[in-house]
Amino acid sequence: MKKDLRPSKHYGGSIEVPGDKSIAHRAALLSLLAKENIEIINFPDNQDCNSSLKAVEALGVQVERNENQISLTPPETLATNDATIIDCGNSGTTARLLAGIIAGSEMSCTLSGDESLSERPMKRIIVPLTEMGAELFADDNDTLPMKINGKKLLPFEYRLPVASAQVKSSVLLAGLASSCSVRVIEEVITRDHTELMVQHLGEGLETRIIKKELVIDADDPRKKKMVMPEDFKKDVKTSSQTKIIGGKIDIPGDISTAAFFLAGAAISKQTVTVAHLGLNPTRTAFLSYLKNIGCKVEIKDKETISGELRGTVTVTGADLKIKKISGETTVGLIDEIPIVAVIAAFSKGTTVIRDAGELKVKESDRLQAVADNLRLAGIKCGLLEDGLAIEGGTEFSGADFESYGDHRIAMAFSIAALFAVGPSTIDDASVVDISCPNFYELLSEVTQK
Ligand code: S3P
Repeated sequence: MKKDLRPSKHYGGSIEVPGDKSIAHRAALLSLLAKENIEIINFPDNQDCNSSLKAVEALGVQVERNENQISLTPPETLATNDATIIDCGNSGTTARLLAGIIAGSEMSCTLSGDESLSERPMKRIIVPLTEMGAELFADDNDTLPMKINGKKLLPFEYRLPVASAQVKSSVLLAGLASSCSVRVIEEVITRDHTELMVQHLGEGLETRIIKKELVIDADDPRKKKMVMPEDFKKDVKTSSQTKIIGGKIDIPGDISTAAFFLAGAAISKQTVTVAHLGLNPTRTAFLSYLKNIGCKVEIKDKETISGELRGTVTVTGADLKIKKISGETTVGLIDEIPIVAVIAAFSKGTTVIRDAGELKVKESDRLQAVADNLRLAGIKCGLLEDGLAIEGGTEFSGADFESYGDHRIAMAFSIAALFAVGPSTIDDASVVDISCPNFYELLSEVTQK
């Protein structure tokens, strides 16, 4: 579906966005390990989360759906045989987290995916899960399809070589499935929805955040200095007693979806409010970024439901400043970089984004996709080895943008098109269905008076 988009005279308003994709995947997949029912409220009806639902159903979970309320009844035993193939669609989270559960569940099956997912790296989970004792057979490039022979796994300690919540979760869920203890060490803190959900629906998972401590300087005892007592930021531990019982999960709105609409407020200097929005601190780097570049960000009605913080967020745009993005900030903005790049294109000066090599192995090569689309709009954009350099503040022309089959690229350039000079098109706009099927309805809400 090709989408025509025109510059918008009006922008602003109040919206709610669908439930958080990362949380929904975990709520669905944990039903494979739960003792009792899991009842989910505000489950987003998008392609990715439906891949997780279909996967658990294929493995024996009874799924009852009433619009966005889902009831999941775990099976007595998980049902697979050598010939079982689970299609993970476009969803990396489904594939990597499910691989962990299967690896530790002493069952065998093959995971497959669409063209994009079949190109994404699986070595990052194959290595630790194999070290734990599972057998995983992918193709020569370590990509899907991948056959997994689950085994009784061995206790395991793993320092994440790549800052990835999917890898962390895969290893933790493998340990949970196999009732063996696991310790995962993070040098950079990634999203912690798995930890919070295991604590909310079950028991026996511990996390420790390492903070700087004030110590006396060995060279000069009159001086004190702040030092990290460990060479990592966080560890997560489970034991043979850790378990998922079951219960109720109410999913907050997805901040990674809201980011597109809030970005529109930043660019247009208007105001957008999003209620019931997930505010888990491992996911709010985009709000800090908006503040840093000069936007007004107000948060009201904060409350914790089902272990996750949520609230109402209002962003008002202003004259935008330039900020370099690198290191842990890039990790925190991992899903928001395409829309951050669009904001940069509308801000005067050069924005440099570094340490973003992971974006090359998302649903598309997002660095290339962003650079190509910005250049189509007449924006100068340098493609760096691990990032982008965007010269913003010049005329942003409407263009025929390509989605590259990637929902976040389609959404980022749909927002850009609203503030471009002249009309634009998005080649395959239906890819927004992967995370937010009502994206264009929400866009109409914020562009209509
Ligand atoms: C996700 C983790 C991130 C993110 C993805 C969802 C998750 O991926 O980009 O959209 O739900 O754990 P990585 O773990 O590969 O960084």
